[in-house]
Amino acid sequence: MIQGKFITFEGPDGAGKTTVAKGVLERLKKAGIDCLYTREPGGIEIAEQIRSVILNPANTAMDARTEALLYAASRRQHLVEKVIPALNKGQLVLCDRFVDSSLAYQGYGRNLGFDAVYDLNKFAIENYFPDLTLFLDIDEQKGLERISSRENKDRLDMESLAFHHRVNQGYKEVLRRFAYRIKVVDASLSIDEVIENCLAYILKVIA
Ligand code: TYD
Repeated sequence: MIQGKFITFEGPDGAGKTTVAKGVLERLKKAGIDCLYTREPGGIEIAEQIRSVILNPANTAMDARTEALLYAASRRQHLVEKVIPALNKGQLVLCDRFVDSSLAYQGYGRNLGFDAVYDLNKFAIENYFPDLTLFLDIDEQKGLERISSRENKDRLDMESLAFHHRVNQGYKEVLRRFAYRIKVVDASLSIDEVIENCLAYILKVIA
């Protein structure tokens, strides 16, 4: 059985991950590659229910550890129900955010600590680390400008500047620790250029 490859897209809010990941998907499909785009909770009913609790702007009382546990729980369910079956079918899985988001947002943004959040997530994902992570790198100020123009802000979009700054510091730590699987892509370029640069890295992994 051919095992598929697991590719994740990461970056701060406003980096354009979703647009880029979907553009990459389209190009790969045109090239005849069997691939799937997904994002947590990915239409998985249990994970959807968990996510709606996390992102509900009314849940201002949510404790940071509760938030980290809920993200890990949602991740686990999505992994088991969607990602692993696709990889077992030999598909290329493009996933919009994964464990590195929790390390940056909960580990640093919420000050829970990188290692505590890493340990929690290792329990959730076992050995399913990405084969490749594309980090969309955007200047902090530019990313914030992009989210401030969003109409429907979720609970995390509405966080303070200091929170988003800590998230950026968290991603720097993620890049240091996992340099072997992460490629940094300049997200300030045109959307077509960003997609092309991502594709070049993906093609190397599946070659
Ligand atoms: P997402 O749905 O990917 O939205 P966006 O398109 O804005 O990136 O993520 C929603 C928010 O949840 C986003 O602010 C990042 C945050 N998040 C975490 O804090 N931890 C996590 O583990 C994940 C996956 C997301």
